[in-house]
Amino acid sequence: MPVEVTPPSRRTVLACAGLGIAATTLTACSAYDDQPQPESAAPSDGGAPAALAATADVPVGSGVILDDVVLTQPTAGVFKGFSKRCPHAGCSVSEITDGNIVCPCHGSRFDLDGAVVNGPAASALSPKAVTVQGDSIVEG
Ligand code: FES
Repeated sequence: MPVEVTPPSRRTVLACAGLGIAATTLTACSAYDDQPQPESAAPSDGGAPAALAATADVPVGSGVILDDVVLTQPTAGVFKGFSKRCPHAGCSVSEITDGNIVCPCHGSRFDLDGAVVNGPAASALSPKAVTVQGDSIVEG
């Protein structure tokens, strides 16, 4: 006796495809969760945060530009931190010249306190909290 097989309906096919996509997404998400997470500046063991720079490396009346932070020392013993991101259009500031932090893209200049000296930037560099611990400058 022949068995009659009916093809699946369009709705059934779409529902199965949706379940397949959901399963793939869940698998991808759980695989991402297994990846090692980037380390933050603050260690998870409760120890001291990593030094951004030695205080001796930041000249008085000037500063240094690091990977993602600008450190300045406007007056002896006063250290400040700023985002490297220029508030005008997001370029990274690139140098500190004549007491000004300079953005190479459109020429904005900021003083060592992050305030705008010359536009087109209309607002100051974003501050980043830094503190001195011993001979080091640390985030926070
Ligand atoms: S992005 Fe810095 S001046 Fe335009």
